[in-house]
Amino acid sequence: MRALVVYYSRSGVTRKACEAVAAALAKHEGVEAVVEELIDRTDRAGMTGWLSAGRDATLKRETEIEPVQADVGSFDLVVIGTPVWAFTCTPAARAFCEQFADDLERVAFVATMGGSGDRGAYELMERSCGTPPIATLSLIDRHVRGEDGDGYVAKVEAFAQELLGAGGSASGH
Ligand SMILES: Cc1cc2nc3c(=O)[nH]c(=O)nc-3n(C[C@H](O)[C@H](O)[C@H](O)COP(=O)(O)O)c2cc1C
Repeated sequence: MRALVVYYSRSGVTRKACEAVAAALAKHEGVEAVVEELIDRTDRAGMTGWLSAGRDATLKRETEIEPVQADVGSFDLVVIGTPVWAFTCTPAARAFCEQFADDLERVAFVATMGGSGDRGAYELMERSCGTPPIATLSLIDRHVRGEDGDGYVAKVEAFAQELLGAGGSASGH
């Protein structure tokens, strides 16, 4: 089973969570997990970036991402990670979903957030991918930043198990 884990991360939380998901998947025999970060061509750094992030997410504005290196259609499973911005997903995650909708058959979503908004993120991602996720993982930013707040590591492990159990066992399909 080959899994691609792509994520957008502005401040590192979703990166940490998605790298943990990939590591949890790769622990299983017969599973290869490739990780790729999505790069938004719009600079979201600093206060100006924060403002543009909030505005663009709220208005559901489109953005351009740097070319994705992975051959997305060749993977058995694609896990897409995003922070929640303004109760929805990031423009970069949405851009990936729209760009590769035809290549995405089995998807799963990861959202990190301060408190809430994962449902709105998943709805927009599902619409943009054109397919529902086989599983989702929602995490609170401070739990991911800490060593193991709220048992987030166990949640990641359970998510990986769920992904492999949902028709994606290591023995292939
Ligand atoms: C522009 C912006 C909007 C945000 N909106 C929300 C929100 O609607 N709900 C929420 O719970 N957290 C919100 N957050 C917090 C982030 O989702 C959270 O800190 C996330 O884990 C950051 O991930 P990252 O470090 O991968 O960028 C927002 C953060 C930013 C920068």
